[in-house]
This record gives sequence, structure tokens and C-alpha cells, in this order.
Amino acid sequence: MRAHEAGALHADISDRGPAWLRTPADVNALVPALWPRSVTRGADGAVAVAGLSVRDIAAEFGTPVYVLDEADLRSRCRDFRAAFPTEDVYYAGKAFLCRAVVRMIAEEGLHLDVCTGGELATALSAGMPPERIGFHGNNKSVAELSRALDAGVGRIIVDSFTEIDRLTALARERGVRPRVLVRVTVGVEAHTHEFIATAHEDQKFGFSLAGGAAATAALKILDEGVLELRGLHSHIGSQIFDASGFEVSARRVLALQAQIRDARAVELPELDLGGGFGIAYTTQDDPATPQDLAKRLRKIVDLECAAENLAVPHLSIEPGRAIVGPAVFTLYEVGTVKELDGIRTFVSVDGGMSDNIRTALYDASYSATLASRASIAQPLLARVVGKHCESGDIVVKDEFLPADVQPGDLVAVPGTGAYCRSMASNYNHVPRPPVVAVRDGQARLIVRRETEEDLLALDVG
Ligand SMILES: Cc1ncc(COP(=O)(O)O)c(C=O)c1O
Repeated sequence: MRAHEAGALHADISDRGPAWLRTPADVNALVPALWPRSVTRGADGAVAVAGLSVRDIAAEFGTPVYVLDEADLRSRCRDFRAAFPTEDVYYAGKAFLCRAVVRMIAEEGLHLDVCTGGELATALSAGMPPERIGFHGNNKSVAELSRALDAGVGRIIVDSFTEIDRLTALARERGVRPRVLVRVTVGVEAHTHEFIATAHEDQKFGFSLAGGAAATAALKILDEGVLELRGLHSHIGSQIFDASGFEVSARRVLALQAQIRDARAVELPELDLGGGFGIAYTTQDDPATPQDLAKRLRKIVDLECAAENLAVPHLSIEPGRAIVGPAVFTLYEVGTVKELDGIRTFVSVDGGMSDNIRTALYDASYSATLASRASIAQPLLARVVGKHCESGDIVVKDEFLPADVQPGDLVAVPGTGAYCRSMASNYNHVPRPPVVAVRDGQARLIVRRETEEDLLALDVG
């Protein structure tokens, strides 16, 4: 069996598709959980977002194109704010960041987590209040830390002893006292329906809890007194549906909190439990609502704090995927349809692994629909592939499309808001697609398409 980021259910895939994939009763039906909230199929059979047909979007902006349903994104921000009203919700910008999205999440009352100088620059250039920015990263450079301090970011999540020393020196030079959290590696690895709790933590992020580095780091910061230690931070994985991983991580991190209190008579006022909340990529995925998550996380923290006799710290979380993932779909044009007798039908689209690396990188599962029209043809099990020179260039491994799918049709793939444009590449010198935000029937370009001139502009040889 192949390992799969989304769990064992997704792993055993035969030539007839995975066991869970059912032939749809209506191949034109849109499963609501998979699509942005303003997406419908119009009277003409074409998919529309906020009333705007994908045919119009393709005509104006070309394909491939990432289509962002702005009302959907904003409503997900509001859902998290409503579910976590006294906590801080940091949108994890690594999922997807551009200036328009920074403004949207800022207007909706979210904070922002950045993890490089580039993300920080984007956030600042869009006017994100610096005190609402948290800065992550396992190898922040002196230049990045300096910029964060000069901008006055709200908190820095320290990740190594080198970084503590670096930041301490920079803070001394400037006469400032930056607020920091210590990133703790708690020995929990969670992905979808599975989590593993281990005693050791073989990964590059954070300070080891089991090995004692996390306690040493926290005490060092407290003893030196140059940085203001606000709390501990733990992030356990991605695309998580099962809260038991958070339970183990909260227990472990709060035990450390108690250990620090006992050693230095200091109760750290904050706790960040990270992100990683799952979304629906296929009909197999059944994510929790933010309300559900809030209830479960609060209960876990309350119980553990009571057990350790700690005051409940101010909580924060860092969802990326759960906010932007479902708000976007990618619209492609079909270029070729190739039937491999008795094996499979390959539907080639005009993008691929350069705009969505997740299928190749993580063996991720996606869904797709024929978007430019409805069809009365029978469902056909298809594989949606890209135009790149890699046989692993797969966008959607298995999906039922109408048997009459043909060149010139538009195919839409939902759930592509997170880790698609942000991880996009120029493989095979394919320019990266634009991002178009649609609101109230109006489309607005928020990231333009790269051009061949853009590609050649860097090629100065
Ligand atoms: C520290 C941290 N916080 C938050 C996130 C966001 O995760 P997700 O987009 O799965 O919610 C990540 C993702 O890698 C992360 O590393």
C-alpha cells in the first residue's frame, strides 16, 4: 500500500479508481461541500461563481486561471472569528498570499502568519497592521528578523537556539523587547484520519519537547530577559480531521508550561495550537466546522489546564487551508482526450503540476467537473492530467466526467486555494496562472498571469 498524506482510505487505488469513488447519479451535479459557496450550475449548464459564468471568466482572463470566490473566503474568515471570538485567528499566509487576500483577511478581523521576508513584505505592502503579524520559520535570516523588528511585528515564533541568540542581539541593538513564542515539537504527527504520537521528533521545526530543548529554550529566554516570552506554540500537521492529535499535543505542551511555572514561577499568558484543519477535496472528506473545532480545542485546553493547575492561556490558532482552500477552483481548458483501451481515459488540460503540485508531491486527491456545459452523456472514469513532461503530472487521479468530454471544454477543479498558486512553479517554462476574485458577479484580477516576458526578464545570460 502506498502511504498517503490524506490517510489509508485514499491509498489503495485500482485502475477502476479508489474503492470509495462512486459513479455519480448525475455527472453534472456539484457536491456543495467541495465548491465555493457562491458556485452554482446556471440554466445554460455552465458553472457560475457569484452569478458569473466560467465561460465569461475564461474568455476574459484565459485559462488556466484560479478563481477566488471572495464572499466564500470572507465567510470562512467570519466563521472562524465567530467560533473563536476571544482567541486570535492567524491566517497562515503560506497557503496563499497576495495583497488583495491580505486586505480581505485584515478587514475580516484576522491576524496573519508569515514565514519569510517575501510574505512579510507582501503583508506590509498591503497595509496589514504589523502588530497583527506573527513571524514563523526555521531559518529566519538576520535581514528577515531585522525587518520584522523594524516593522514592529506582533510576535516572532522562535525555532532554534541560533535564532534566539540572533534575535536577542538585534533586540539589544535596537533597545526593543520583541514578543516571542517558543515553537515546541511535541512528537505528534497528524494527517487527516491518522495521527502518531512518538517520543522523539525527527523533523526540522521547533525545539524538541522530549529531548528537553524546548524547556531549555523557554528558560533561557526568561533568564536573559531581553525577549518577552509570551507562550508556547505547537503545530502538528496538515489536513487533520481527528482532534485526538490536538489533545495529545495540548497535553504535552501544557505539561511543559507547568514545568516552566514550577521552575521560574512564571505562567506564560499565551498558547498557539497551530493550524492544519482539514477541508473537503473529495466526497470522502468530512471536515469539522470552526464551531466544532473551537468547542473541541477549548475543552482540551480547559481540561489540561485544570489538570496542571494552570490559568487558561490566551489561545491562538493558524488555519491556512481551511480559510482559502475551499474558496478557490482552478479552471482549465481541455486540450486532448486520450482513451487507453480498457484502462483509462486521460483528459489533458492546459496546466498541471506547475499550478498544482500537490497531487504529484503528496499523492493528494482532488475532484473535477465539466464546467463549461452540462452533458447528458454517461459518466466516464477519467484522469485529468497536465501538459508537463512528467508522467506524474496528474491533476485529478480519478474522477467521473461525462463521456463526451472533448477539446475546448472547460474543466474546473475545486479546493485549489491552498498550496497551489503559492507552490506554483515555472516547470517547462510555463507561466504561472492568474488569480481572479469574483464578487457580486464582477471579476477582478488580483494576481496577473505571468508572461513569457516575465520568464525571459530573469534570464540575463
Ligand atoms: C506553523 C504552521 N502554522 C500553520 C500552518 C497552516 O496549516 P494549514 O494550512 O494546514 O491550516 C502551517 C502549515 O504548514 C504551519 O507550518
